[in-house]
Amino acid sequence: MKTVVFKPDQVAAAAKLIQDGQLVAFPTETVYGLGADATNPTAVKQVYIAKGRPSDNPLIVHVVSAEQVKQYAVDPSGRFKKLTDAFWPGPLTMILPLRPHAFDPVVTGGLKTAAFRNPRKQITLDLIREAGVPIVGPSANTSGKPSPTTAEHVLHDLDGKIAGVLDGGPTDVGVESTVLDLSVTTPVILRPGAITREDIEKVIGPILNNHHHVAADETPKAPGMKYKHYAPNAQVVVTHAADFPAAIKWAQAQNVPFGIMATDDILNAQNVVRFKEQFSLGDSVTSASKHLFDGLRYFDMYPEVKIILAEGFDKEGLGIAYMNRLEKSAGQVHFNAQTNETEQRKQ
Ligand code: TXA
Ligand code: MG
Repeated sequence: MKTVVFKPDQVAAAAKLIQDGQLVAFPTETVYGLGADATNPTAVKQVYIAKGRPSDNPLIVHVVSAEQVKQYAVDPSGRFKKLTDAFWPGPLTMILPLRPHAFDPVVTGGLKTAAFRNPRKQITLDLIREAGVPIVGPSANTSGKPSPTTAEHVLHDLDGKIAGVLDGGPTDVGVESTVLDLSVTTPVILRPGAITREDIEKVIGPILNNHHHVAADETPKAPGMKYKHYAPNAQVVVTHAADFPAAIKWAQAQNVPFGIMATDDILNAQNVVRFKEQFSLGDSVTSASKHLFDGLRYFDMYPEVKIILAEGFDKEGLGIAYMNRLEKSAGQVHFNAQTNETEQRKQ
């Protein structure tokens, strides 16, 4: 199959493919999604096949408005309404109890709930409106790879396996949406994202966090949490900004080529040493989140690089979502400036 790249003014052609039961990847403000008509089980099955995704890992349903959700799900506590008023369109996915027979079980992995999201990007909203149906959209990567933040990433993983990709340029946020479960008595964050716990609590009061690392034998709340997260070929070592000089000495002593993924201040300050490869995370936790997945994909182009010193940020605000992805890619390995060694930390 030839994968067609659609430009932003070709939304109608992309929507036509979705209506025809084909797969079309689309940009959102977070990462690219792999789109199919949520009301067409045959099309949805193809999403799992193209990604190599386990069939018990349910998909997010992308909608054009909060209004569109009413047809499929209920808002038992009124919290969904409050949160959509505050944050939609935006990077907040909410899990709600479904109406009977709302979707084929292939969409929800057989669960009686579904995850809904209203993305904050005009061409994506145009695509959903034009298609006339809600669109399922897991991240448009091969299962186990970092989520794609450009159309090139999508093609790298899925060229020839999907009908098209709508190219909206690089995404803004770079880490996937916050997933909040509203189908339980006290709402729970299942995956941290750009909309933080504090943001949500300002609107609906106290909620819980449940995005710790899930052991293989545990039953996770979000089925996606039990699958191994992406780790690049090289060992990622989480390194706090102030510890880079010591971490570089440690890496040099390992006698293998290493790379650095950090903000510009750090890259510029290390001018005495020449690194095999370096990747800029820009100047803040915001730009670092935007470029993180691109950076992880970048180092895989250099198989000789065995260690990546990657900048860690404080776990507050967007830093929680960034560190959640970075620590997983590092298998929780950090550089400890007290011992001058690496260590595996509990999350
Ligand atoms: O930013 C995003 O959310 C992107 C863009 C494309 O919208 N999508 C995305 O989808 O990251 P995906 O499939 O890679 O991640 C969805 C997560 C998975 O961990 C899945 O297990 C969880 O949401 N999930 C979906 N439906 C669920 C449900 N009914 N109950 C619990 N978890 C659910
Ligand atoms: Mg994903």
